Amino acid sequence: MAEYESHDFDVVIIGAGGAGLRAAIEASATGARTALVCKSLLGKAHTVMAEGGVAAALGNVWPEDNWKVHFRDTMRGGKMLNNWRMAQLHALESPERVLELEEWGAVFDRTPDGRILQRDFGGHRYARLAHVGDRTGLELLRTCQQRAVGLGIEVFMECKIVRLLQDDSGAVNGALGFWRESGKLVAFGAKAVVLASGGVGKTWKFTSNSWESTGDGHALALWAGADMIDMECVQFHPTGMVWPPSARGLLVTEGVRGDGGVLRNSEGRRFMFDYISDFFAKETADTIEEGDQWYENKKDFRRPPELLPRDEVARSINSEIKAGRGSPHGGVFLDIASRRSPEYIRRRLPSMYHQFKELADVDITKEPMEIGPTLHYIMGGVRVEADTAATTVPGLYAAGEVAGGMHGANRLGGNSLSDLLVFGRRAGQSAAEHALGRSGTVIDNAQVDAVSAQSLAPFERDSGENPYTVHQDLQDTMQSLVGIIRNESELLEAKEKLGELDERASKVGVEGHRQFNPGWHLALDLESMLAVAHCTTLGAIERRESRGGHTREDYPEPDPELGKVNMVTRMRDGAVVVVREPLPEMPDELKTLFEEAH
Ligand code: FUM
Repeated sequence: MAEYESHDFDVVIIGAGGAGLRAAIEASATGARTALVCKSLLGKAHTVMAEGGVAAALGNVWPEDNWKVHFRDTMRGGKMLNNWRMAQLHALESPERVLELEEWGAVFDRTPDGRILQRDFGGHRYARLAHVGDRTGLELLRTCQQRAVGLGIEVFMECKIVRLLQDDSGAVNGALGFWRESGKLVAFGAKAVVLASGGVGKTWKFTSNSWESTGDGHALALWAGADMIDMECVQFHPTGMVWPPSARGLLVTEGVRGDGGVLRNSEGRRFMFDYISDFFAKETADTIEEGDQWYENKKDFRRPPELLPRDEVARSINSEIKAGRGSPHGGVFLDIASRRSPEYIRRRLPSMYHQFKELADVDITKEPMEIGPTLHYIMGGVRVEADTAATTVPGLYAAGEVAGGMHGANRLGGNSLSDLLVFGRRAGQSAAEHALGRSGTVIDNAQVDAVSAQSLAPFERDSGENPYTVHQDLQDTMQSLVGIIRNESELLEAKEKLGELDERASKVGVEGHRQFNPGWHLALDLESMLAVAHCTTLGAIERRESRGGHTREDYPEPDPELGKVNMVTRMRDGAVVVVREPLPEMPDELKTLFEEAH
């Protein structure tokens, strides 16, 4: 029998970014004995990459703003594939969550009369993003972390969870993992588990995500029998660094465009004016004069096309590069230097100034930046009930990027931070209530033995393939065949290659011992990334239309019928399958909000 250390809690939260921290604060406040388990160090999470702000209809800059406008923007940005109830709760509750953060000590930028300042971002009708320069995610993490530690929540760092544990009825009753440092096995008994593990970016080659984002929570849910929805909907943020190669993919905040930055091609032309879709034509400026007027006085509601939703901007950049009008290193130019003073740029965008100076030797107060799309976020994820964040598996909850539904086919910038606050809180509360109504848990040693043997198997194959080569081939496959623009033949090729990669991943070998062994850690992460890749590819094959972040060149238009369904992926008999299921129907009183807008 495998030896393991064990802990027992009411609620165990996997992931300690913004969603995990917010869930832990609420679970603990509800009276549950709560633990946070994270693969990395506390405070190091992709949450920091939401740099430009947290979206909430506070109405501090535009008193006209309110939850209904935010709801409508979010649904339209998501191309109406969003779970309407999640979008409604999000729009209703995000102001309260932001004010609560302020109460807990977050130091936001201020309006001249001392209220929280809000900035413009793509797809938001009004300046709506409460921000702390270009370090908003970091401030959110810092604030929640301080609060969680103050509440005495136990934190287990550098622990990779490999499987959820389930009782005979299928309900989740714990999680099993390995300490990264010692390689020893650890089991957490839990009456409820919240997944808050973030994204999947490392499955692709060029990404703003750091090494932790390997889809662990998505895979844990899938293996436990939960439904995933719309995993084909991934977001390529329009502006990642393209140079130098070591920084490729690193995020350049949308705040640059929100604060006046414009996109130009190699001819110096503001090409976004050539790409205004019918869907947003009425509210997008169609001449440079109109766009500039908006940037200057913000009084005309026709906004510049650089502030279209991310999916549209990323595709336009991609087209310019393909047409041979790109920058020397394969991107396009993002120019704020010719439009704002050096003092303004350094005050509003201090991290961007330093990032380009240190990494690329570019002074963004004097020169344009070279940027291109980078995989940033997955809209799809674990299917949850809107009000409770409960998944389809009893005892399992999910919040933040790992959960699907909230953002539909495309997420608006800034909506991730408000999402994780609103649904992190709801998940923590529901999980705690569920746990407090349940008797103790018993860890099943047979499950522990089986998972332990499988996880340690790479050590038995020291002549097996190196996990790094399998990971590289997986990233190349997803980048080239399941990227920004997709088609059936490439997706089918990807599906076939994923089958081969599964086979290779099942035979990888690692050298050395269990103590801090990065090759072994990658071998474990590969299983999660492959699970994600299968779901995304199957969903992308089945969604024969273009919608939001999912673009099919063989089906270039949205299909109204497919706009009414989620692509549901789940494990059946050891394989991932995909089926279409109807979206929840929006009530009439919310439908009228879209009629009013036109
Ligand atoms: O561009 C950004 O600052 C990212 C924000 C977000 O993804 O929400």
